[in-house]
Amino acid sequence: MDFTGRTVVVTGAGSGIGRAVSRLFADAGARVLGVGRRAAALEETAADHPGIAAHPADLRAPGTAREVIDAATGRWGRLDVLVNNAGATRMMPLGETTAEGIADLFDLNVTAPSLLSSAALPHLRQVEGAIVNVSSTYGHRPLPGAAHYAASKAALEHLTRSWAVELAADGIRVNALAPGPTESEALTAAGLPDAVVDQIKQDEAARIPLGRRGDPEEIATWILRLADPQTTWLTGQTLTLDGGLELT
Ligand SMILES: NC(=O)c1ccc[n+]([C@@H]2O[C@H](COP(=O)([O-])OP(=O)(O)OC[C@H]3O[C@@H](n4cnc5c(N)ncnc54)[C@H](OP(=O)(O)O)[C@@H]3O)[C@@H](O)[C@H]2O)c1
Repeated sequence: MDFTGRTVVVTGAGSGIGRAVSRLFADAGARVLGVGRRAAALEETAADHPGIAAHPADLRAPGTAREVIDAATGRWGRLDVLVNNAGATRMMPLGETTAEGIADLFDLNVTAPSLLSSAALPHLRQVEGAIVNVSSTYGHRPLPGAAHYAASKAALEHLTRSWAVELAADGIRVNALAPGPTESEALTAAGLPDAVVDQIKQDEAARIPLGRRGDPEEIATWILRLADPQTTWLTGQTLTLDGGLELT
């Protein structure tokens, strides 16, 4: 895949899947604006990858979406691909559900991708660009104890389908990638203690037919394929990449 001369915005670029996909785009010749809250983590992603520019920002803060897109287009004059990857998970059984907990998840997992996509639209129209939304296997299967995380990803998958049709006349393709359990900082970022994280990882690996959790790099490869301008006729789809978990 060759992204030479193309410009990409990747959210959540300071760790996990976002770091891997930022580096892979840069290796393929793209200029990448990597977004996240921790400047040091973004700088680490950009180390040895001159095509990546770190852009620290909190996607839950008002005005961030437009400011991020302006930063990319101001710097490079075009935007070809938006990867809505930043996301958070949270254990929240129904009996412990709070308005603040729901808002926290939806602000990052649903509202931020919506506002970023909206701000990116005029630029994507100019180049017939692409949007890739990062969902989850649990965007289309139940997740007891974290239902609102699953629901936020289900919303993102449905936005993907609606936007694909809405933007098709502009030549903009919109697809989603739904990873299964993948090595990243996600479980730690959800505030779970190390022992619980280790147990969850073991349980997940045991449930996955291919017998292991995913690597961020193998997720990143498919995000590039969905965004690739050579992938000309694919839109509105959610690709599940989870070692067979969704079939069980
Ligand atoms: N790993 C999995 O098992 C798995 C499975 C299915 C789906 N996913 C999805 O894959 C995506 C990437 O997650 P990951 O697994 O790579 O986890 P991760 O390592 O926790 O990455 C999430 C990234 O989002 C950034 N982020 C969080 N809140 C933010 C905010 N308010 N503003 C800007 N950036 C923010 C974080 O950076 P800062 O903290 O520096 O802001 C972090 O780099 C997420 O959408 C996740 O739901 C992951």
